[in-house]
Amino acid sequence: MYYQEPHRPQIHFTPKENWINDPNGLVYFEGEYHLFYQRNPYGNDHDHMHWGHAVSSDLFHWEELDIALAPDELGTIFSGSAVVDKDNTSGLFEEGSGGLVAIFTHDGQSQQQSIAYSSDKGRTWKKYIGNPVIENTTIKDFRDPKVFWHKETEKWMMVLACGDHIQIYGSPNLIDWEYLSSFGKEYPSHEGVWECPDLVCLPIEGTDDSIWVLIVSMNEGGPNGGSAVQYFTGSFDGIFFRPNEQAEDPVKWADEGKDFYAAITWDNTAKTYWIGWMNNWEYAGEVPVSPWRSSMSLVRTLTVQQVKGDYLLKQTPVIPENQQKQLQEEPFTVQPSAYLEYEIKLPVTINVETKEIPNSGQWGFRLISDQEEIFTFHFDQEKDVYFFSRTAGILDFSKDFSKEITGSLKGQKVKNIFSILDQSSVEIFVNDGLSVSTNLFYPRGSIEKMQLYTEKEEVPFNGLSLEEYQSIWK
Ligand code: FRU
Repeated sequence: MYYQEPHRPQIHFTPKENWINDPNGLVYFEGEYHLFYQRNPYGNDHDHMHWGHAVSSDLFHWEELDIALAPDELGTIFSGSAVVDKDNTSGLFEEGSGGLVAIFTHDGQSQQQSIAYSSDKGRTWKKYIGNPVIENTTIKDFRDPKVFWHKETEKWMMVLACGDHIQIYGSPNLIDWEYLSSFGKEYPSHEGVWECPDLVCLPIEGTDDSIWVLIVSMNEGGPNGGSAVQYFTGSFDGIFFRPNEQAEDPVKWADEGKDFYAAITWDNTAKTYWIGWMNNWEYAGEVPVSPWRSSMSLVRTLTVQQVKGDYLLKQTPVIPENQQKQLQEEPFTVQPSAYLEYEIKLPVTINVETKEIPNSGQWGFRLISDQEEIFTFHFDQEKDVYFFSRTAGILDFSKDFSKEITGSLKGQKVKNIFSILDQSSVEIFVNDGLSVSTNLFYPRGSIEKMQLYTEKEEVPFNGLSLEEYQSIWK
């Protein structure tokens, strides 16, 4: 039976079987959130790339549909985006009607940008007869078009990843594209190849202002090794993206964990939502699961918060109000000599609000399986870091997997921690999502206990709640 295999996520999207990677073509249209994704319909490795397809009405429960786009003589179908062409600017729809247009990379002799269109809510697609719409024979890495409507200039805008920089193109009709500008050669990080860009205007919390954010995935060179998502905040005038003066640390990472990649945002929504591929290219082909391989993160709402002269991404998971509240604790204190222990059953969310966190010493959470495997996430306020330790469970599939993963608290005192545990993943949202760490782990047994501990000083909490979730596949 599908969805009951060991380590199968129960509240995260996975395909019934076979390989997936990047989310593609995220768009809201007529009551449905579409999630397309890189998909190999024939096996459990990265090959024969197609676009798979799923839909949701709440960004949490997903229904997997048929393959949307398949390879052709121009190549396999790499990552890209989708928009609603409601005014039929492309002329690809019947007069007086609009529809969905997908913009993607054909990966063949070279990487070129192409489009396809659908008049039946994304169920079937026709490729544009004049593909590619952006030709290329010279640039090696030239891919992952993300398109949005820019109302000030009344044009479609495309951001495209070109190895060590981003190119921006504009178009009146999604077919004829004009090169506008480039960004990024002189901005870090360049330890790997730039992929899957996105350019969004996000509200700044607590103000009426907004700010442009350029999102760039990069494989290799992430802070914990392998692939990771960086971003730049700045302005966009319809031609150029100009970054703000960056505060101290020039590279800003969207996720402090190791398994959040190729994340892009939904088009045609009032709030901005995004989702990432919950894996890392360092070991994505080896993770010990089948008959599917890889899952998506939970969907997250994106905003920006100003912190000491800098602008930081803030992410809030989209997860329905609880179905089953397991436990709600009033204020309590954890002492150095004693663990506080709770029974848990995955999938579960653990929500704590802290009081006056001590400055020195580590404290945190231990997750324990019925085979005595221990995974921890713990905090060190003095060093401004937190960790996820996955040195237990199944590890032998990759030398790069068994590590303590380090994330930055970004100079903030820990006030609250919301963590979401599924069968083989944890997403940790610290301080209302100002710092997030997404990581995979593979226990042999089943996680049954959670302990709170502190090594040196007592840690006071204002409260704790545990909420168990039902599988989204029932
Ligand atoms: C990112 C990526 C993209 C590419 C796709 C291929 O993970 O390498 O740049 O389009 O995956 O599957």
